[in-house]
Amino acid sequence: MQVTYDLMEEHKLIVKYIDLMDQYIHLNQANQGEAFFLEKADIFVSFIRNFADTFHHAKEEDILFRYLEVPGVLSHCNPLPQMLFEHDQGRHFVQLMKMAIQNGELNHLIENAWNYGQLLRAHIYKEDNILYPMAEAGIQDKDKIRLLDEYREAEERMSSQAIWIEYKDKYKTLEEHLHEMQLACSKPAIAM
Ligand SMILES: [Fe+2]
Ligand SMILES: [Fe+2]
Repeated sequence: MQVTYDLMEEHKLIVKYIDLMDQYIHLNQANQGEAFFLEKADIFVSFIRNFADTFHHAKEEDILFRYLEVPGVLSHCNPLPQMLFEHDQGRHFVQLMKMAIQNGELNHLIENAWNYGQLLRAHIYKEDNILYPMAEAGIQDKDKIRLLDEYREAEERMSSQAIWIEYKDKYKTLEEHLHEMQLACSKPAIAM
């Protein structure tokens, strides 16, 4: 019985968004004076807040981490304070991204989006390879059944199916827009 499979699937979408965000940043840095990233950054911030934080981190903080705090589950070390600290750091970067969008500050936006991406990539690597295997090994089957029930309740409460569809669709739209912009930028200017 696995209790981290769905969380790892959520990580995959988060990493896809971070990869796409990096591509927007690179295109914008290669084309100074344009604002490709600034124009679409609200969608990235909405994904990070609604999917990565409200949805995914809520399942971790409110459910999985509680089961990991049961005495005896984490036998070697306790990575939870560091994981919670990194969630808060991520929220801070996203807040700074939001402020940069409001003030139209592209460089500030890029700096904080980049910091967020770096942080989350490393965070997800640690969860996938250290924390989640500890959870699978340490949580007893009877508790895993209760934990999975709690996930189901949380997913219903947060309309998990709708949120997945919404952000997969938005990802496709962002990806298509990026390709159009990459094509437009690669065309040589017509000599007058
Ligand atoms: Fe996390
Ligand atoms: Fe996570």
